[in-house]
Amino acid sequence: MRNYLIAGNWKMNKTPSEAVQLAKEILTLVKDSDYRVMVAPSFVCLPGVAEVLKGSNIIVAAQNMAGTEEGAFTGETSVLMLKDLAVDAVLLGHSERRHIYGESNEQINAKVKLALKHGMMPVLCIGELLEEREAGKAETVCFEQLEKGLAGVSEKELDNVVIAYEPVWAIGTGKTATPDDADAIHASCRKKIAEMYSAAAAEKMVIQYGGSMKPENIKELMAMENIDGGLIGGASLKADSFASLANFNK
Ligand code: 13P
Repeated sequence: MRNYLIAGNWKMNKTPSEAVQLAKEILTLVKDSDYRVMVAPSFVCLPGVAEVLKGSNIIVAAQNMAGTEEGAFTGETSVLMLKDLAVDAVLLGHSERRHIYGESNEQINAKVKLALKHGMMPVLCIGELLEEREAGKAETVCFEQLEKGLAGVSEKELDNVVIAYEPVWAIGTGKTATPDDADAIHASCRKKIAEMYSAAAAEKMVIQYGGSMKPENIKELMAMENIDGGLIGGASLKADSFASLANFNK
C-alpha cells in the first residue's frame, strides 16, 4: 500500500492564535491516525503551529514559497525561512496560485526543485478548469502540469514528491468529482509518471485528491485504487471534521 497522506490546506483562514488552537485540538484527535497527516497554515501562522506540532506525527507545510533562496523579492517567503521554522513540506502550484496569481508551470517547477534541494517535500498541485474538462482536455492539462512541474527532477528525488489532483471546478464548490472520474485521472497521471520515469516510480507515487473532500465522501474516494489521500480545504478548518478525515478508516 502507498503511504497515504491526509492534509488540511487552511488557505487564508485562521489568525495565528486561532491556528495554534486548531493545531492543539487536531493533535489530540489524530495522534493515532494510521496515515501520514499534514496541515498547511498561512505563513504568519507557521511559527506557532510548528511549535505546537513539534515532535508529533503531523507534518507542517507551507502553502507556497518563493522560487529563489533570498534577495530583493518584497512580499515573498524563502525556503530558508521555512526550513528554519522546521516546516518540512510545501504546497506548490495550487490552483489558486495558478489562476488568481498567474503562476506559470515554469515558476512552479523552480519552486519544486528548490524545495527538493533543501529536503522539503513538495506537494505539486495539478488540475483542470471546468471549461478544459468540458472540452475533453482534463488529461492533457494535467499531463502538461506534471511534465513541466517535474522538469529536471530525478527519479531519486521523486521519492520525496507528492502529487495532488484538484479539479478546479470541485474546489470549494461542494461538487466532488465522482470516485470513478477522479480515479480515472489519477490512473492516467500514474501512467504518465511511468512514461516519464519508470513503472516502479509510478507505483510508489502518492497522488492525493482535492476538491470538496469531506467526512461524508472520503471513504468512497479512498476506496479507489489510485487515490492515496486528500488535500482538504473547507473540511479541514474544524478539528472534529479534520480528525474524521484523518481517521476515516476507524
Ligand atoms: P475544498 O476542500 O474547500 O474544496 O478545497 C480543496 C483545496 O483546494 C485544497 O487545497
